[in-house]
Amino acid sequence: MPVPHLVRIKIMSNTILVGAQWGDEGKGKVIDLLSAESDYIVRYQGGNNAGHTVRFDKKRFVLHLIPSGILHKRTICVIGNGVVVDPKVLFEEIALLEKQGIRVGKRLKVSETAHLIMPYHHLIDALHETHGKRKIGTTKRGIGPCYADKMARQGIRVVDLLNSKVFAERLREILREKNEILKKIYHHPPLSFSKILKEYLGYARKLKRYAANATLLLHEAQAKRKRVLFEGAQGTFLDVDHGTYPYVTSSSATSGGALTGSGTPPSRIDRIIGVVKAYTTRVGGGPFPTQFDSKLMKVIQQRGEEYGATTGRPRRCGWFDAVVARQAAIVNGLDELAVMKLDVLDAMPKIKICTAYRYGGKLFRDFSYDIDVLRYAKPVYEEHPGWRFDVSGIRSYGKLPLNARRYLARLSELVGVPITIVSVGSERKQTIFLRKRDG
Ligand code: GDP
Ligand code: IMO
Ligand code: MG
Repeated sequence: MPVPHLVRIKIMSNTILVGAQWGDEGKGKVIDLLSAESDYIVRYQGGNNAGHTVRFDKKRFVLHLIPSGILHKRTICVIGNGVVVDPKVLFEEIALLEKQGIRVGKRLKVSETAHLIMPYHHLIDALHETHGKRKIGTTKRGIGPCYADKMARQGIRVVDLLNSKVFAERLREILREKNEILKKIYHHPPLSFSKILKEYLGYARKLKRYAANATLLLHEAQAKRKRVLFEGAQGTFLDVDHGTYPYVTSSSATSGGALTGSGTPPSRIDRIIGVVKAYTTRVGGGPFPTQFDSKLMKVIQQRGEEYGATTGRPRRCGWFDAVVARQAAIVNGLDELAVMKLDVLDAMPKIKICTAYRYGGKLFRDFSYDIDVLRYAKPVYEEHPGWRFDVSGIRSYGKLPLNARRYLARLSELVGVPITIVSVGSERKQTIFLRKRDG
């Protein structure tokens, strides 16, 4: 049986890793694996809406804001300008890591031009979700309102906070308007200027040691041929431009975001890896064409432990959607695919893959941005026999059951991208690397 998805892996210096579905694909695990051969790990978008899980030696770490690469002792971790930083969460996460024996110290750098999540961002996010008519099902971490302010030129950056005069001026001006919104739209009492000022100036004292010109830092690292790994958060279909708008997050989760979100020029990028689950999940609102019926949903939710790493909400589950994954390959320019959670499908007698959508008498082989197509389309499925075998202990591709190899080969063929990593469990060692031998 041929292995169509094997490619030669070059030792490359700049790699972007992105989610190719709706988030929670298992990016944390892959980042952790690749961090062993990286010098710098860079988050470039999103904020603490992300939840990246890494498991090893029976320990479980969930990273929200700090790059998952921090778990490796040698790596320098950078929070890029494209990220929105909640300083309270940042210091809580540092404290938690230190408590778990992970030294953060000088290994963490925060871009001076990253925007800050402010107390009114949380509040407006939560109030909008509670009172608003069009609920997105956000994580209520203040992400959307913070990015909205950034684009409206009403944001406050790390560098602004480090200058107490500039910070006080900007806060006073911006808070005046936010309090009007709180009062008039949400009938909510105003927030206190002096309280926020005091709280944030306290963060400023601690933030100083981490703040850096991250663009320059990365430029110098790249000039020295250091290996840089860009850690995507969320996923392609939560990207504000390329996702299932408006049911998206408010940042650029696709590979392009790694460039603007860190100040890295496109010419530097060597390799782009997309992460998918062997099936699909989605948390929060929005269309999901291949969603299971409630019975199958429960089975996969349980077997895959599909509960949000940030909010604990159950994730909706469905079959692998090749229409979506093919689009992700195009938008991100994927060179390689990491297929995660193959083990979750072990007991399934039959496994389906969606190859197209049918809607309004038309066949859609390509992804559609029309929200109604996504909402009401009937997926066109092909059905594959399951392997009904526990693959969690398998460490080489050739030892996988034939039906599992056939399934993977078909995914790769439909998406048009070679598979280089197959994950069969949440632990580091439960991974199969597919690397072509030289020659
Ligand atoms: P991320 O947001 O993309 O980093 O993914 P999450 O951490 O939110 O969710 C992925 C979940 O799947 C985590 O609980 C991982 O520990 C788990 N996981 C990752 N790979 C595998 C795998 O191959 N098999 C199983 N069963 N679990 C996995
Ligand atoms: P990781 O990095 C899955 C979803 C939310 C909601 C939408 C908007 O762990 O893959 P937001 O709070 O960002 O304004 O919410 O985006 N969402 C995620 N879903 N994984 C994530 O991150 C997510 N981050 C945000 O559920 O539907
Ligand atoms: Mg997650």
